[in-house]
Amino acid sequence: MTMDMTTSLASVELANPVLTASGCAAAGRELSQFFDVADLGGVVTKSIMLKPRSGRPTPRMAETPSGMLNSIGLQGPGIDSFIANDLSWLRQAGARTVVSIAGHNTDEFVSLAKRLYHQPVDVLEVNISCPNVESRGQVFACDPIASARVISAVRRATNPNVPIFAKLSPDVTDITQIARAVADAGADGISLINTLLGLDIDLDTMRPTLGGTTGGLSGPAIRPVALRCVWQVHQAVPQLPLLGMGGIRTGQDALQFILAGASAVSVGTAVFHDPTAPIRIIAELEAELARRGFRSVAEAVGFAHLSAEEQAAFLASRSPVAGVAS
Ligand code: FUM
Repeated sequence: MTMDMTTSLASVELANPVLTASGCAAAGRELSQFFDVADLGGVVTKSIMLKPRSGRPTPRMAETPSGMLNSIGLQGPGIDSFIANDLSWLRQAGARTVVSIAGHNTDEFVSLAKRLYHQPVDVLEVNISCPNVESRGQVFACDPIASARVISAVRRATNPNVPIFAKLSPDVTDITQIARAVADAGADGISLINTLLGLDIDLDTMRPTLGGTTGGLSGPAIRPVALRCVWQVHQAVPQLPLLGMGGIRTGQDALQFILAGASAVSVGTAVFHDPTAPIRIIAELEAELARRGFRSVAEAVGFAHLSAEEQAAFLASRSPVAGVAS
């Protein structure tokens, strides 16, 4: 029996549910020496801003137990160079393209959406949650009103055929409140989670390790937090497609996110030590689904929310797929 690995992010069909995560593989070109990026569910590009930006002072990265702190500060070439070089390359490579945008204020988000209106963009990810900005007031995703303001303005400015996904921060008291606010404001889906705000102290200098003092924590350390957020948001707004991420390293990790309610997943920090991780995870996920009697990704989305009786009734109608059952 073949597994149906297709999934969708709102109106956009994907061949499989494994994408890169914004910020961990630029615009995908550097991964193309390891595999064909068209084989991914999609490439999520590093958040792009209007103008070229050099980012925060170095050091910008620090290892932590089971994770990594980054303080990049949205370094990038600016939207014009991105369209001319990265977006055209992605189109040529045949990759599904999720373009992540970031702005200092609502007007900048709107300008970016307008610049991308006629470009080959499959999904627009609106990064309202970068922790590495000058002030916490710019982390729009910490406030439902600010989040909704950005998302409704971007929705009006974006090509109506392009779904927009709001990228949320876990650093809030109630992520479902933010999720509802962006859904009401016109988000077609939600990406979650961005990194958690963290800090490391260098014991030689006895000063913060990162040039920017604080940074965003990613990697396996944050996976339970990310899963909890996906679970809560799926419960709160079950009709909304979710792109889940946070410490995914294996097909088993990816399956956890799908069972919690994600329609697709992004693989980020893992690519720094294993650039082939996203491709490996597609194959591992397929085997994990088959082993549990699923015939498609769609059947597994949100499955963990079913009662034990509902799960048993579904699985009773299935037998493990021959050849992959353990
Ligand atoms: O610092 C950065 O560029 C990180 C961005 C993000 O986490 O959204």
